[in-house]
Amino acid sequence: MFYEPHKKNHGLARNPFNSLIIPRPIGWISSIDKDGLFNLAPYSFFNAVSYQPPTVMFSAGVGSASDGMKDSLRNIEASGEFVCNLATWETREQMNQTSAAVPPRTDEIDLAGLTAIASKLVKVPRIAEAPVHLECRYIKSVDIPSWKEAGKYVMVLGEVIGVHIRDELITADGLIDVASMRPIGRLGYNDYTCVDGDTIFGMDRPT
Ligand SMILES: Cc1cc2nc3c(=O)[nH]c(=O)nc-3n(C[C@H](O)[C@H](O)[C@H](O)COP(=O)(O)O)c2cc1C
Repeated sequence: MFYEPHKKNHGLARNPFNSLIIPRPIGWISSIDKDGLFNLAPYSFFNAVSYQPPTVMFSAGVGSASDGMKDSLRNIEASGEFVCNLATWETREQMNQTSAAVPPRTDEIDLAGLTAIASKLVKVPRIAEAPVHLECRYIKSVDIPSWKEAGKYVMVLGEVIGVHIRDELITADGLIDVASMRPIGRLGYNDYTCVDGDTIFGMDRPT
């Protein structure tokens, strides 16, 4: 089959786009508002975009607040900081819970029964239950061209200025034990996948 997204002529039960770019890592983004109130939400339009400096992006759609912004975007643009917490098999339920649309001034960490701990370089706390945290300094927002205002996305770029890795996840050889970390990724619809010992395979690069 072939379809052109702007014509919406895929003829399928649901838009297939999110089922084709998979799995997507999940940036479980913590931020604070102007009064220091904590916010946490998952974003799967999320990825690393460069090494030096290590840089990440996530993309926020239209929020339900009167300014049309999701809380994460509003907070990060105001405070200049955020943390990406790694979502894993163990925290999958809490991750999902923090995607609920709640009023801007709701403390989502309390709601999901998670533990906020201090970061080293940014004021935004990180989630103790996550094994990896990327402390980020906001670089800029990029408006993604949109067919209509209601479908607008804004991409946030951040420089990773501090990285926490749970010590038990570092092997004697100095590698990351991803099989034990069990990160989860987003597929299409409400489906997810999990990286574990059965799903990892290696390949040498051609010389
Ligand atoms: C796994 C997962 C991935 C998500 N990815 C995105 C995303 O990439 N962009 C987005 O705007 N919303 C995404 N959402 C929905 C947001 O998490 C949800 O709108 C949340 O309430 C936003 O919170 P905030 O207003 O506190 O930032 C996702 C939800 C889930 C469960």
